[in-house]
Amino acid sequence: MENNKLSVDQAVPKLYQKAREEGIVTVFDRYEAQQPQCGFGLSGLCCRHCVQGPCRIDPFGEGPQVGICGATAEVIVARNLLRQVAAGAAAHVDHAYDVLEVLEKIAEGAESYGIKDAEKLKQVAHTLGIATANKTEQEIVKEMCQVIYFDFANSSTAPMTYLKANSPKERLELWEKLGVLPRNPDREIREALHQTTMGMDADPVNLILKTLRLGLVDGFAGLKLATDLQDIIFGTPQPVVTEANLGVLKEDYVNIIVHGHVPLLSEKIVEWSRKLEEEAKKAGAKGINLAGICCTGNEVLMRQGVPLATNFLAQELAIVTGAVDLMVVDVQCIMPSLAEIAACYHTRLVTTMPIVKIPGAEHVPFNSETADTASQEIVRMAIASFQKRNPAKVYIPREKAKVVAGFSVEAIVKALAKLNPADPLKPLIDNIVSGNILGVVATVGCNNAKVKHDWFHIELVKELIKNNVLVVTTGCSAHALAKAGLMDPAAAELAGEGLRTVLTAIGTANDLGGPLPPVLHMGSCVDNSRIGDLVIAVANYLKVSPKDLPIAASAPEYQHEKALSIGTWAVAMGIMTHLGVIPPVLGSPKVTQILTQDAETLIGGKFYVETDPYKAAAGMIEHIKTKRALLNL
Ligand code: SF4
Ligand code: FE2
Repeated sequence: MENNKLSVDQAVPKLYQKAREEGIVTVFDRYEAQQPQCGFGLSGLCCRHCVQGPCRIDPFGEGPQVGICGATAEVIVARNLLRQVAAGAAAHVDHAYDVLEVLEKIAEGAESYGIKDAEKLKQVAHTLGIATANKTEQEIVKEMCQVIYFDFANSSTAPMTYLKANSPKERLELWEKLGVLPRNPDREIREALHQTTMGMDADPVNLILKTLRLGLVDGFAGLKLATDLQDIIFGTPQPVVTEANLGVLKEDYVNIIVHGHVPLLSEKIVEWSRKLEEEAKKAGAKGINLAGICCTGNEVLMRQGVPLATNFLAQELAIVTGAVDLMVVDVQCIMPSLAEIAACYHTRLVTTMPIVKIPGAEHVPFNSETADTASQEIVRMAIASFQKRNPAKVYIPREKAKVVAGFSVEAIVKALAKLNPADPLKPLIDNIVSGNILGVVATVGCNNAKVKHDWFHIELVKELIKNNVLVVTTGCSAHALAKAGLMDPAAAELAGEGLRTVLTAIGTANDLGGPLPPVLHMGSCVDNSRIGDLVIAVANYLKVSPKDLPIAASAPEYQHEKALSIGTWAVAMGIMTHLGVIPPVLGSPKVTQILTQDAETLIGGKFYVETDPYKAAAGMIEHIKTKRALLNL
C-alpha cells in the first residue's frame, strides 16, 4: 500500500516500510490483495445458511431475485445482520460471564482476585434490590451472583433483571410494547441462530425487531454487566496520566504487550510484572515495561495508567519494532497473522484461552485457578525472551503523546462536584443549556482496513470539538484520539470557545492547572455502558427520554460484529448512531430504510451512514441542533 494511504499515525508508515524491507506481509497488504471485494458480500446479498447455497441475489434486477429456497433480498440481508449482531452480543456476554464466574469464586474464597471497590459493590447491589446492611462483602457478592445467574437460567418469558434494574422506565415500556425486551441472554442468542437458519423467519421486520432485542442483550448482559463487575473486582477508574503510541516501548526494558479484552488476564500481568521487576534487572534489563493494545489495553490504562502501544490495525506493527519480547492475548480482535510475524523476531506470542489458540503461538492456560502461576510464567517467559532480542532488528518509533484518561462516570461526577458539590450534574446541564456545550458525541469502535488508519476518528472529532461538541470515547477510537494528542489537556485549544471555557473551569476547580482534555476517555468497548449510564443520568435529571437529548454516537472505522451489536443497543436506547463504514445491508432497500429512517419513529434512534468525516460531523451537529430546538434550548 502507498505510504500516504496507510495511516495518519506517523509511526505506521515507518514500521510498514520496515516490514516491507524484511519481507513481512501485514493487514495493509492483505487488504489490497482482496481487491476488488465481492459486491454480493458487501451488500449483504450472499446467503450460505444451507448447503443448497451459496445463493446470491442480483441487486440490478437482471439475475436471480430469490435464493434456491425462495428467500428474498430483504430476508437474506436481515438474517445476515441478525446473525452478526447475535455474534457480537455473544462475544460481550461471554466476556461478562467469565468475570461473573470469577466474582462468584471470590465469594467462595479464591485468593487470586478480590473486591477493590466495595462502594460500587453496594451500589450495584442496591440497583438489583439487594439489601446490604449488616452483610459482609462475601454475602453481598453471593446474593448478587445469584440474581445475575438467574438471568442466565431464567426459562420463563420474564425479561432480564439486569436490564430492568438499569433502564429508564420510558425505555422499558417502549421495549415491552415493541416486543423486544430480552429474556435469558443465552436463550436469546440461541433463538437468534434458530430464527435465522434455513426455512425459518421470512419476515424482515420481525428479524429486525429480533436484532434490536439482541442489541439490548449486548447492552445489558454484555457491556453493562462486564463493566460493573470489573469495577467491583479491579476498581472504578479515576483520572490517570500516561502516554500512547509505539514510542512507549523502551529499548532497555523487557517489553510486554497485553492484547485482547478481559482485564482478568491483563490486571494479573500488570501485578506480576511489578513483582518480578528484580528478576528482569538480574537478566540485564532496566525493568519491565508494559503496554496495551485494543481494549485490554484500555482496561489497564484506565485503572493502572499502563500506556497504550497502539490500536487494532497496527497490532502487527508493534511486533515489527523488534522490541516486543512477549505479546500475551486473551480474546477478540487478535489477528491470526501475529504468530507468523512474531516468528520473524524473537517475540513470543502467548495465547491463554481455550477458545483462542493460534498455531505458532505458545499456549499457557489461564483461568481463575492458574491466574497467579500462569502470569508469573508468562512474565518470566518475557524476561527470558528479552535476553534473545536482536538489537540489529530493533526500531522503536519516537511517536507518543501525553494522555489524561480514566473518566468513569464516577470520576466525571467527582470532577463536576468540585463546581457544585450538592448537585454535581448541574454544571454540565447548565453548560449544555447555555450552549457552551452544544451537545455530546461518543466516538467508539475499531479500525477498519477499508479506512485510512485513525483518519476518520481524528478528523471527525476535530470538527466536533471545534463546534463545541464534547466528545467522550472508548475502544480503538479512544486509542486513535489518544495517539493524536487529543487527550492532552493542551488540545483544549482546538475546542470552540464555549467548550474550552467549560473544560478550563472544571480543570481549574480540580487543581489541574489547566483544562480537561477535550476528549474524555471512558474506557474499553464494554465501557460503552459508562456512556449509557451517563446518558441515562442526564436524561433522568432533565426528566426526558435519552432519545430527546442533544447527543449522538459514532463508530467511524468499525469492523467488528461487536460494533454492530453495540450500535444496535445505542439505537434501541434512542441514540442516533453514525457508521463511517457502509454496513452490509444496502442489498435490501427495505432493511436499509428501517435502520436509517423508520427506526427513528419506532424507537427514537437510528443508524446514520456517512463515509465522509466532515459531512458526518455536520450531520451529527445538525441532529444535535434539532434535538436542542425540541428541548427549547
Ligand atoms: Fe440459498 Fe435459501 Fe440455502 Fe440461503 S437458505 S443458501 S438462500 S437456499
Ligand atoms: Fe474493543
